[in-house]
Amino acid sequence: MSTWKSSLAAACLLVSSYGCAATEVQVTVHGDRPGAVIHRDIYGQFAEMLGRGIYDGIWVGENSSIPNIHGYRKDVVDALKEIKVPVVRWPGGCFADQYDWRDGIGPRDKRPARPNASWGGEERNQFGTNEFMDFAELIGAKAYLSINVGTGSPREMSQWIEYITATGQTTLAQERRANGRDKPWKLDYVGIGNEMWGCGGSMRPEFYADAYRRYATFVPKPIERIASGANADDVAWTDKVMAIAGKQIDAISLHNYTIPTGDWAHKGSSTQFDEAQWMSVLQGALRMDGLIARHSAVMDKYDPAKRVALAVDEWGNWEDQEGSDALYQQNSLRDAISAAITLDIFHAHADRVRMANIAQMVNVLQAMILTDKSKMVLTPTYYVFDLYKVFQDATSLPVSVQGPVYRYGNASVPGVHATAGRDAAGVVHVALVNLDPHRADTVRVQLAGIKGVHVQGKVLTAPAMNSINTFDQPHVVEPKAFDGAGLADGVLTVALPSKSVVVLDIR
Ligand code: AHR
Repeated sequence: MSTWKSSLAAACLLVSSYGCAATEVQVTVHGDRPGAVIHRDIYGQFAEMLGRGIYDGIWVGENSSIPNIHGYRKDVVDALKEIKVPVVRWPGGCFADQYDWRDGIGPRDKRPARPNASWGGEERNQFGTNEFMDFAELIGAKAYLSINVGTGSPREMSQWIEYITATGQTTLAQERRANGRDKPWKLDYVGIGNEMWGCGGSMRPEFYADAYRRYATFVPKPIERIASGANADDVAWTDKVMAIAGKQIDAISLHNYTIPTGDWAHKGSSTQFDEAQWMSVLQGALRMDGLIARHSAVMDKYDPAKRVALAVDEWGNWEDQEGSDALYQQNSLRDAISAAITLDIFHAHADRVRMANIAQMVNVLQAMILTDKSKMVLTPTYYVFDLYKVFQDATSLPVSVQGPVYRYGNASVPGVHATAGRDAAGVVHVALVNLDPHRADTVRVQLAGIKGVHVQGKVLTAPAMNSINTFDQPHVVEPKAFDGAGLADGVLTVALPSKSVVVLDIR
């Protein structure tokens, strides 16, 4: 839906210590050609049982000196409510295919300790089904459970679902009541296995697709069933699974991570990186567009009406681990810019992408929130989710961008990325992302079919590509009121700072 044309002549040639001179970018927002609704669930989160994602990050227990609501960190709950998290995926990830749900119910002091075979250490199961379902309810999110296919069985899955959703007097409904929950919870989604081509069981797509059909048969409606999908560009997996099981699939997943160096053994630091790695991460984010297009084209063969959604239920930047906690990494302005680009791409594919879950919510990979004992800090990525929450359930509006490329060495990407949507109240939201770390741009936005007289907005930027928020300096990268936009005669003129995200509301 978004188109981009490069203009070599307009590329930045003069770099001074103040950056390049501003250049002009032409954007058109087609309010007269509305697209699909941007499903709020693309703003979903992923929370796996690993590192300090759950323990310390979300759950500290009722007896903690850290302020909590029935064991959940109050600061984290408040921050997650603020960004309107629509859905949370749990308990994995790779962890899911070794998880026995019965380990995580009943009195906490009686729950077993098991090795966390995927991520190391021991899992004491203090956060289990009741804790997760209550947590989702507390923050106002839908629940998405990853089912154990790798080492589990359809019977275990059925009983887990019954424990959560049964209304009657069955033994499992009574067991849930004995564990403190009278009413059933609402369970919206189940994922039938995770990465079944890899940590979930090393299966061939034919074998998995048959296993999927077996499990899917025992998932009661209206719970939606999500098939374990492809790794990155493995469209052959999508093709086979759709061919064999497509009729029983409500959504099929896609996992894609950006590794700054491209080398899993040395992924690259989350804070100490040069412009080459800035560029590499932005190129990685832009790759999502082609991935979705290719998987969606394969899905079209079996599902031209797009009944089956593509759920990008793991995405984000995977950088070098800092310290000893599994998959803990800092989060910089680079992560924020790449998150904004990725969300723009999801908007552009709103007809097919109806769920996405960034990896992961707290203290793991490209997190929203970092914690250290009683301290908490919101990351630059959190602030993109905060700025972009206005797009949840908005109608996407096609956008075209014509402007200079941003080049570094032999690599080049569009200098500016954009997205737009119209919400239920008729307010048009436009987001502009400047990928260039040096050059500010003047952006002229033609508002086709949009009547607006008033514009206001916010900007997210920072002094350096690798600016971060820390526990001691938590306000380095955070949104500020933006006074660089003007609206006259249907044209919006925006002074877009280098390396920034600007979100504007037009009324
Ligand atoms: O998010 C971390 C891991 O990445 C997940 O457990 C797995 O599904 C993926 O490979």
